[in-house]
Amino acid sequence: MTATLLRHCADDTATARLGAELGRALRARGLPPLRIALHGELGAGKTTLVRAVLRELGVRGRIKSPSYALVEPYSLEKLDLELKRSVQITAYHIDLYRFSSPDEWLDAGLGDVLDGKSLCFVEWPERAPGLPTADLDIRITPRGDSREVSLHSGSPAGEAVIDGWAYAQAHAG
Ligand SMILES: Nc1ncnc2c1ncn2[C@@H]1O[C@H](COP(=O)(O)OP(=O)(O)O)[C@@H](O)[C@H]1O
Ligand SMILES: [Mg+2]
Repeated sequence: MTATLLRHCADDTATARLGAELGRALRARGLPPLRIALHGELGAGKTTLVRAVLRELGVRGRIKSPSYALVEPYSLEKLDLELKRSVQITAYHIDLYRFSSPDEWLDAGLGDVLDGKSLCFVEWPERAPGLPTADLDIRITPRGDSREVSLHSGSPAGEAVIDGWAYAQAHAG
């Protein structure tokens, strides 16, 4: 089974609102370890969207595009239901645009980061064909200033995020 969510974002503020919604949907699931792949041409709004997710998840200060550093790590707080206290987890914002060969992500040491134990946002996943399947695929298609954004689940964990999100949306006041 897969879940899908489609949205039209009229401007960058709308795209950022969508990112904030995704952030809340992730928090509602307890910030699970997930690989989230972002597809779309240069300037589509991938970084804009991820920035808004990270903001919603409590990141303060500047959120740089990882196009040069390749990986930007962020420390997030999440509530551990078993320990009944908040714990720190690391989220990674990754940009593979500058990669040209299929195994470069492994050579760059991203195997550990993308091992399925952390929350990762990956721009240009198509530059690393051997990358493990994403739990969520987000595709952004520009139409002038507006964007068509589609989210598809690639795993049960990704499906749970979209289903929970759709449920919250249907029951929002
Ligand atoms: N509806 C929209 N959604 C997202 N970005 C938009 C939109 N309309 C215009 N923009 C602009 O497009 C650019 C997107 O840049 P960025 O998020 O860095 O893209 P990417 O990471 O996909 O290369 C920004 O300058 C942003 O202000
Ligand atoms: Mg970008």
